[in-house]
Amino acid sequence: MKKALITGASEGIGRAFALRLAETGFYVTAVARNKARLEELLEELPQGDHSFIVADLSTAGGVKKVATELSRNHYELLVNNAGVGVVGDFAELPLKRLQSMMKLNLDALVQLAHAYVQTTREGDALINVSSALAFMPTPMMSVYAATKAFVTSFSESLWHEQRPRGVFVMALHPGVTGTNFHTRSGGDDQNRPPESITQTPEQVVDTAMAALSKRRTPTVISGVKNKLFTSMGRLMPRRYMVSMMGKGFQ
Ligand SMILES: NC(=O)c1ccc[n+]([C@@H]2O[C@H](COP(=O)([O-])OP(=O)(O)OC[C@H]3O[C@@H](n4cnc5c(N)ncnc54)[C@H](OP(=O)(O)O)[C@@H]3O)[C@@H](O)[C@H]2O)c1
Repeated sequence: MKKALITGASEGIGRAFALRLAETGFYVTAVARNKARLEELLEELPQGDHSFIVADLSTAGGVKKVATELSRNHYELLVNNAGVGVVGDFAELPLKRLQSMMKLNLDALVQLAHAYVQTTREGDALINVSSALAFMPTPMMSVYAATKAFVTSFSESLWHEQRPRGVFVMALHPGVTGTNFHTRSGGDDQNRPPESITQTPEQVVDTAMAALSKRRTPTVISGVKNKLFTSMGRLMPRRYMVSMMGKGFQ
């Protein structure tokens, strides 16, 4: 039986990944901080050898715990999904909050990817969850968008390096998705993105699973509107694009 380890699996997109992968026959190891939610998730999964690890991936100890698991046991799939955002004027945000986000969105993701590729075999896969904002600098989410630009660049390079070994690496780019992400990031109802552009976590997972079966490109963007929006962003002069993104928070 195939095994998948998913970070940030207690809620949102990670949880949808856990449910989908278990339905398709994977044994799931779910990682997050909230033990009660992980226990609830395990009860919902179809029968199988599923498990969870309680770990705070913004800490060295939490990352080590999960990296050790990845180096001791072979997984066919790692979904590096755990991530947070921070909304606000850079100058006014507490540096500690931004550093904690960088530890989770960047350090943990790189460390777990590194542990994972030591044990991978031909046919295995790594999904790093980035964001449509990876392509668009975003005033009032400046550091968050930059962490996702890093995730995309890193994942695309790794895709090329791992190809000869038969390991598929994907940077998955959700756009606005209906989870607790916006609220947790410090966004309020005033700047909540409209429903018309909001996807469900299940739709994001649909896109990822389809791309995973094709193994064609490392750069996977969820949803037609997000594909159009990110292409438009790439064609525009950057100063216009940044101003356009900044207007979203005014
Ligand atoms: N929702 C969106 O609009 C959107 C758009 C583009 C990209 N994304 C990306 O998609 C990924 C998932 O986001 P989501 O929307 O599903 O957010 P979410 O609903 O807030 O879920 C985040 C998950 O990450 C876990 N997590 C947070 N901090 C953690 C930590 N320090 N250590 C371990 N786990 C931690 C949370 O569980 P615990 O609290 O239990 O630890 C939760 O399971 C993120 O990488 C995000 O950047 C989201």
